[in-house]
Amino acid sequence: DSIDAAFTAKGKIYFGNTGDEGTLAQGQTQEILNANFGQITPENSMKWATIEPSPGEFNWAGADFIADYATTNGKILRCHTLLWHSQLPDYVSSITNKAELKRAIKKHIRAVAGRYAGKCYAWDVVNEIFNDDGSFRDSVFYRVLGEDFVKVAFNAAKKADPEAKLYINDYSLDNLNWAEPKVTAMASNVKKWIAAGIPIDGIGSQAHLAAGGASGVGAALSALADSGVSEVAITELDIAGAAPADYEAAVQGCLDVEKCVGVTVWGVTDAQSWRSEDSPVLFDANYAPKPAYTALLDML
Ligand code: XIL
Repeated sequence: DSIDAAFTAKGKIYFGNTGDEGTLAQGQTQEILNANFGQITPENSMKWATIEPSPGEFNWAGADFIADYATTNGKILRCHTLLWHSQLPDYVSSITNKAELKRAIKKHIRAVAGRYAGKCYAWDVVNEIFNDDGSFRDSVFYRVLGEDFVKVAFNAAKKADPEAKLYINDYSLDNLNWAEPKVTAMASNVKKWIAAGIPIDGIGSQAHLAAGGASGVGAALSALADSGVSEVAITELDIAGAAPADYEAAVQGCLDVEKCVGVTVWGVTDAQSWRSEDSPVLFDANYAPKPAYTALLDML
């Protein structure tokens, strides 16, 4: 049985995973994706440094590969990410002039979101813009433009791909106790931005969790949903140790929140995971399903 089929049978839109051309070429990765998951997010190939390493020079191959993979195999494509302080080329992070930075953002988004227009179920338009205390992260975007960069980015994305659900995505949105300042800042800023006419459709909670850290996921998603967005999602789930109870709690959190449309796990096998030393995902290095995978199927 497929985890995606079981999850979507409960009224959700997808249960997905991440990958790029390199990981999809390894072992049984594609078989596992094809058989179990209904959605794919490119892990790195759509990020600014990869896709536009120097101004106006685009490297489409990796992103095209994943977009084609999604089309060919009937997978929902979540596109990731247009504006992020990390994996950002120096020619962008060194801009100090407002007009120049706005122009660079608009050109980048027009080109990248334009190329995949109509193919992305969702775009993570801005990624990781808040600190854990709820203040704005000190990125080139915030330093030069203040919070206006959010409006510039979402308006450009809307223009380039009017169909895609436009998301703001971040980590440490997992709990109303220890992550409360960030959840509150995210929800109140999004509410304010939507009221100001900025076209934000969704909030993504990455959910890179510690062992035992999933119990508050549903309550936090519900607080994010109350900001007025039309949907929320768990966008990059991985949990240190991958205890079945932790995965059950996180996925149940999405089931419990009506606006939560889907869950994306961040890595097919532990060996491929960016947190491989934590063994945080659902298949082991030998492509065998782990106890958390079986537990989720049982739960669903
Ligand atoms: C990670 C990838 O998994 C790694 O391969 C890469 O080296 C660094 O980025 N938040 C995000 C993701 O939004 O894009 C990051 O992905 C993990 C943290």
